[in-house]
Amino acid sequence: MDNITKERMYELIKIIDQANYDYHVLDDPKITDQEYDAYYRELETIEKAHPDWIDEASPTKKVGGEVIDEFKKVEHTIPMLSLGDVFNEEEIINFLKRIENSGIHSNYVCELKIDGLSVSLHYEKGILTTAATRGNGVVGEDITHNVKTIKSIPLKLKEPLTIEVRGEIFMSKKTLEEINRERLLKKEKPLQNTRNAAAGSIKQLDSKVAAKRNLDAYLYHLPNPLDYNIKTHHEALEFLRKLGFKTNPNNKIVKNINEVMDYIHEKGNLREKLPYDIDGVVIKVDSIEAQQKLGFTARTPRWAIAYKFPATEVLTKLNDIIFTVGRTGKITPNAILNPVQLMGSTISRATLHNEDYVKAKNLMIGDTVSIKKAGDVIPEVVEAKIERRTGEEKPFKMIDICPICHTKLIKKEDQVDYFCPNPNCPARYIESFIHFVSRQAMNIDGLGERLVEDLYNFKFIKTIPDIYKLSRYKEELIKLEGYGNKSVNNLLTAIEESKKNSLERLLFGLGIKNVGKEKAKILAKTYGNIDNLIKVSYDELLQLQDIGPIIAKNVTDYFSSKDNLEIINELKQLGLNTKYEGETLNIKEEFFNKRFVLTGTLTKLTREEAKNIIENYGGKTADSVSKKTTAVIVGKNPGSKYDKAKELNIPIWTEEEFIEKTK
Ligand code: IVH
Repeated sequence: MDNITKERMYELIKIIDQANYDYHVLDDPKITDQEYDAYYRELETIEKAHPDWIDEASPTKKVGGEVIDEFKKVEHTIPMLSLGDVFNEEEIINFLKRIENSGIHSNYVCELKIDGLSVSLHYEKGILTTAATRGNGVVGEDITHNVKTIKSIPLKLKEPLTIEVRGEIFMSKKTLEEINRERLLKKEKPLQNTRNAAAGSIKQLDSKVAAKRNLDAYLYHLPNPLDYNIKTHHEALEFLRKLGFKTNPNNKIVKNINEVMDYIHEKGNLREKLPYDIDGVVIKVDSIEAQQKLGFTARTPRWAIAYKFPATEVLTKLNDIIFTVGRTGKITPNAILNPVQLMGSTISRATLHNEDYVKAKNLMIGDTVSIKKAGDVIPEVVEAKIERRTGEEKPFKMIDICPICHTKLIKKEDQVDYFCPNPNCPARYIESFIHFVSRQAMNIDGLGERLVEDLYNFKFIKTIPDIYKLSRYKEELIKLEGYGNKSVNNLLTAIEESKKNSLERLLFGLGIKNVGKEKAKILAKTYGNIDNLIKVSYDELLQLQDIGPIIAKNVTDYFSSKDNLEIINELKQLGLNTKYEGETLNIKEEFFNKRFVLTGTLTKLTREEAKNIIENYGGKTADSVSKKTTAVIVGKNPGSKYDKAKELNIPIWTEEEFIEKTK
């Protein structure tokens, strides 16, 4: 490197700062990683040659290196307040009313409530001098050495201002996953969530550790806006952005409660997809004058409020672990929990899958456990809070006899599951009825697990067809605790309605081993009705591309059992539809059960159309050419798939030839 001058050093700092800003703040890199590395190395070389030239705000400071002995205290000249929390629409309406009743007419700004830790940054003449945690709001801790490693926080502002700004330091979901993957490999305990991980990282004495944690920050608050002639909060955000800070792109000006609620719903839906965690929405009065008029209570501003999303994780007690028997005889341990509210439903049970799962989580009966539910997903026991153990907890013990029929359980070598081998175990019946009526199968609304169990125990349902004869017990059903006239009528209507279902639902509902939803659909679509399917042979089934020997055997076994055929006959007589209601396959010899690859641009058809034609004739399309490919259909400017086809001697069809064969 020949140009070792101070001018070049500052030029490089400028280039690298801009590149960091483009990459980390705007998420819009303009130079390549290689170019960046070259500039960076050049700057390092100059700094090594002239340590006395090193600028405090040099981007090389971002890698950390500074180690402190203790966290110094920092007094906040303006207290760092927290926000009042609200949990529903009514409370938001009250907040807005209170403001409007004090004669204020302002817009509001809605923002995401980033789940991290708040930070106050001080810049002098544009240079970052101090970064502090909130602490108790009045006195925080000096974390400057670590904050300097955060790539999206500028060491130098775009204007040489002396200013305080505040915002949130956070860790992305992806970073947490990466850290935890590494920790697991090293047999270290995973970090619990992004907030704790961010807080733990910022509380490191050695800034090299913090630097590795890949922290990030959104800035959202200017304590002294009027000093910069800023009259609204949204202008403050724009001002922060222009100074080089990262501001959140979801901020939005809103006018009334409806717009606030729309924002909350929209962002609630976005939550899972965001790359970082949020725990709510912050609603702020936009006008600074109005903010100042409203002022503060002892702990919180009167001009802003935090709407908290319902928690996705709660603590409760693991009261017991009970075992259930599935329709295949599989034994599942289930957590019996002290009922808790979580995301709109009461949770009192969660599956624990198998013995290994319970042991890996080291669960004990009586433990305090955290329960998680993401979106619509079934609740999950995350972990036991070991620190809350009292010594009263009891160890988990796997059972060795069936809890229902007391047959000795079996466990195959190398498998995790225990099975009840008794084919007449009552639990199997109950589970098979539950499966039959479930949403993915016959979808009978109102026939939940508990009711199915009751109906079995009262001997109202002994076989699947009995479900369709339930109207005989209408009077008795009405008398059952909790089910009135109306709900029984609804139930009977739902049962009647389900008779019309397309064949794949019935097939899936019958519970043929290994025939899931997808396979049921393939069978229904290929054979059109149940009579064709009853007649089909093992060899014919094997011809189907998606059906392997195990399923072919299970299907033919199922339909050769006298008992099963009786069930099907009875269902037919009860009026169940046994036909596939979708478009059945229009089988054509050239395509049926064959595999095609499309390459190049087709001129007469779109790719989608070509694919549909092939599938409708019973064929399949694949993305890559292999020995199994029947033919490659070649359009204009074909790619490497064409070469591969030639190499493997696979027949090549032009688009015209393909169209010809479809006629
Ligand atoms: S404004 C005086 N805006 O939530 C107003 N806070 O529960 C200061 N937070 O301590 C806060 N995202 O750590 C504000 N967009 C946002 C926020 C936000 C996250 C945090 C912040 C605050 C806490 C209050």
